[in-house]
Amino acid sequence: MAKVIWITGASSGFGMAVALQLLKQRKHVVCVSARRAHLLEMLVRKGAHAYPLDITETADIGKVQEAIEADHGPIDAVLVNAGFGVYGPIEEVPEEAVRRQFEVNVFGAVETVRSVLPSMRREKRGRIVLTSSSAAHVSSAGMGYYAATKHSIKAIGTALRQEVGELGIDVVMVEPGVVKTAFGQVALEENYMAPKVPDYQNQMDDLKTFMLRAFERAPEVDHTRDIMIKALIEEHVKPVYRTTRGSLALGFMSRLFPARMYDAIVKQAIGRLH
Ligand SMILES: NC(=O)c1ccc[n+]([C@@H]2O[C@H](COP(=O)([O-])OP(=O)(O)OC[C@H]3O[C@@H](n4cnc5c(N)ncnc54)[C@H](OP(=O)(O)O)[C@@H]3O)[C@@H](O)[C@H]2O)c1
Repeated sequence: MAKVIWITGASSGFGMAVALQLLKQRKHVVCVSARRAHLLEMLVRKGAHAYPLDITETADIGKVQEAIEADHGPIDAVLVNAGFGVYGPIEEVPEEAVRRQFEVNVFGAVETVRSVLPSMRREKRGRIVLTSSSAAHVSSAGMGYYAATKHSIKAIGTALRQEVGELGIDVVMVEPGVVKTAFGQVALEENYMAPKVPDYQNQMDDLKTFMLRAFERAPEVDHTRDIMIKALIEEHVKPVYRTTRGSLALGFMSRLFPARMYDAIVKQAIGRLH
């Protein structure tokens, strides 16, 4: 039977790549959400069903879930993927930008999850795939708020896995490192908070140079996309997938090194590129 799959953040990057690949399989009902409805049109032409949604309008999330289920039946799997990064020093990122970072990456994700749980519990089956990040394990200067949102996703996803595992619902966290999507441009241009306090200037310059190079050299979406699809549709899945070498290494480093040594290694790695 065709699975009904809902993907948030489908107008770009991982979400769009997963939707396109699933549509090629012609086996599933693919429902796609994002703010920029016009970017979903290409997916609709290929057979997707579009449900435009600004994930910060949390009251709308349940309406989209209800509309999908009214149109296609119970949602079998959801890719909770909409997200972005704000880069800037802890002291300087304006409160409004911090709130927005959490509204999209955490509250939006949580409400998406909560919207699908009643019907998944009723059906005694379901798959919740959370797009997490290597930043769920590590944090560094200039990326503290983004990392905080992904640490939150890890904590919430871990609790959820324990709460709903025995109800027939699988929770899977996918943790990419840096991958070529629009994420870099959104974080390093649109949401980059250039420091006004001179004390932070060098660190932020270092971070920007480091991240620009990292995105230039980053892998394409294919491998992470394939892992996300596996997490959405295969019968047996793992609770966590780290999809890039960077995310494997960072997770390992954060467990291996004491805090000050970890700080020194990260600072040296970021500064070395100058
Ligand atoms: N690329 C990486 O290096 C990387 C690494 C680790 C984790 N991630 C995570 O991967 C996920 C997807 O990002 P991506 O790399 O594919 O970046 P992307 O190409 O920029 O895509 C981000 C998606 O999120 C959606 N989104 C952002 N704000 C939204 C809002 N308020 N309401 C609804 N949708 C919203 C965007 O759609 P609209 O703007 O049209 O709304 C877009 O479809 C994010 O959770 C990100 O944190 C990315």
